[in-house]
Amino acid sequence: MNKGQLLYEGKAKRLYTTEQEDILYVEYKDSATAFNGEKKAEIEGKGTLNNQITTLIFEKLKEHGIESHFVERISDNEQLVRKVDIIPIEVVVRNIAAGSLAKRLGIEEGQPLKRTIVEFYYKDDALGDPFINNEHIDILGIATKEETDALYELGLKVNDVLKPIFEEVDVILVDFKLEFGRDKDGNVLLADEISPDTCRLWDAKTKQKLDKDVFRRDLGNLTDVYKIILARLGGK
Ligand code: C5P
Repeated sequence: MNKGQLLYEGKAKRLYTTEQEDILYVEYKDSATAFNGEKKAEIEGKGTLNNQITTLIFEKLKEHGIESHFVERISDNEQLVRKVDIIPIEVVVRNIAAGSLAKRLGIEEGQPLKRTIVEFYYKDDALGDPFINNEHIDILGIATKEETDALYELGLKVNDVLKPIFEEVDVILVDFKLEFGRDKDGNVLLADEISPDTCRLWDAKTKQKLDKDVFRRDLGNLTDVYKIILARLGGK
């Protein structure tokens, strides 16, 4: 499959057309961004690591019956995916208080939540991705009620699969963000990436942060901790 025209360039990835209309080429970049693009850096090797980690995670989800847009990894930093129209909702699933939840509600970071929660954010850079509820989704007209319910259920389902997979390799899945799209038949499909850029992952024993908080909070070398995640998931 050949790389065609550049369709879209995001903060961490470039999307290209291919000769097949419903398949896109995704190139993972080495760019790291945080705080809605305010903090930026080029980190050599990050694209390759995220491409490999996302691939392993999408493959594991598929083994557990959760389909995604992922088709196949074709090089160190490239993969093929099914074309979808991204639904502008970020679905955040949380098991433990951290990040914006800890800050907004005054809960100490690291405190386990009494149950897993799902949150929605409106994916809009200009607005700073605000927190939204089902009624906001309705008035914005960005997803139907059935789709919104599906996002919620799929968020929990992905958590049910990934949490034990990480637990087995001594990693705590603190929280993560998912994105979904609609395929040409209107089916909702898991999309984007699932990597240490989009998850909080802590070492079970030491509680060391093995995710993008290392970059956000200047805690050390980002690729060193992403390599730990890749190795624990069985990658090389
Ligand atoms: O910042 P916050 O605590 O709301 O993030 C929750 C989870 O969602 C974290 O794992 C973070 O990495 C992820 N996230 C993301 N992209 C965003 C916002 C949050 O991947 N735009």
